[in-house]
Amino acid sequence: MDVLLTGGAGFIGSAIAARLTAAGHRVRVLDALLPAVHPRQRPPGFPDGVDFLHGDVRDRAIVDRALRGVDAVCHQAAMVGLGLDLQDAPAYVGCNDLGTAVLLAAMAGAGVDRLVLAGSMVVYGEGRYRCAAHGEVAPGPRRTADLDAGRFEPPCPHCGAPLAPGLVDETAAPDPRNVYAATKLAQEHLASAWARAAAGRVTALRYHNVYGPEMPRDTPYAGVASIFRSALARGEAPRVFEDGGQRRDFVHVSDVASANLAALDALGERPPGSSRCYNVGSGEVRTVGGMAAALAAAHGGPAPVLTGEYRLGDVRHITADSARLRDELGWRPAVGFAEGMTAFAHEPLRG
Ligand code: UD1
Repeated sequence: MDVLLTGGAGFIGSAIAARLTAAGHRVRVLDALLPAVHPRQRPPGFPDGVDFLHGDVRDRAIVDRALRGVDAVCHQAAMVGLGLDLQDAPAYVGCNDLGTAVLLAAMAGAGVDRLVLAGSMVVYGEGRYRCAAHGEVAPGPRRTADLDAGRFEPPCPHCGAPLAPGLVDETAAPDPRNVYAATKLAQEHLASAWARAAAGRVTALRYHNVYGPEMPRDTPYAGVASIFRSALARGEAPRVFEDGGQRRDFVHVSDVASANLAALDALGERPPGSSRCYNVGSGEVRTVGGMAAALAAAHGGPAPVLTGEYRLGDVRHITADSARLRDELGWRPAVGFAEGMTAFAHEPLRG
């Protein structure tokens, strides 16, 4: 299949480019080489046969060119992370939502009807919890007064009792808690609207915390695994926010690439006008403090420090149930936490 891979020069995108090429697909990358993650404005080395176009998905003319002869689009181009502050909002909305809208309009114009979209677990907000008295509940945003007092666990919204965090599946209602999360959810809605209007098929892959070789070095837009790994490379201790007990699912970039391959291969069997979303997580529940400790030990660096700081846009716990992806697309994660983090402790970062 001929695949247009937007954002194919990025950390996740370049792993997908390698995976699709190895599976025999022909790949054309379109990437704006955003300075935050491409300070040298150079694309990475691609496998032979990958065609590279430098351009922005908001530029209809270049997208039209990029779509020529293409069977499917794998849309990874996005501005990621929590960002600095609300001044980042126009850039997030521009890159992520306007960019997606331009791409979808161009796909409708060119008659390209298959799309895999990079989604995110951030669309769930706090995800799912259980209250002993009230069963399954969805806590609201954490209150500043609680966070300031070091009360990081969200209480039951009905009785204030402590909650047990659970695995979030795709039936959980979306509840985006920051600008980035809102733009990732809007991308999914835009793509569903496109699928209905243009008889397209879209699969959104909601990535959990992706890590692995060539992750960009720490910037305000980087994920926590890169921030800790970068600190260790400087000989510094990872700085763990809150009390370190926040839960995440760290999924290896090569497993995210294989999820994209599985999703692309399955699109042709789906009925026109259909949308489906899948969590992409390793299935291993870890804490941020535990991840910091594992990485520091594997690196042979200083032990993590608990700072008690917090970021207002952060959720407390979010861990995936990826059964739908396993059951429907036959995907299996191949890299476990211990193996992946041990390697990541010494693998190169970008930037
Ligand atoms: C991350 C990504 C998000 C992506 C999602 C799924 C970022 C900023 N966030 O969300 O883009 O969609 O995974 O792949 O890239 N923390 C520390 N110390 C630090 C920095 C962070 O302890 O120096 C803590 C945070 O408080 C938070 C946790 O680590 O509790 C995870 O932070 P982070 O990786 O930034 O964001 P996620 O919400 O997990």
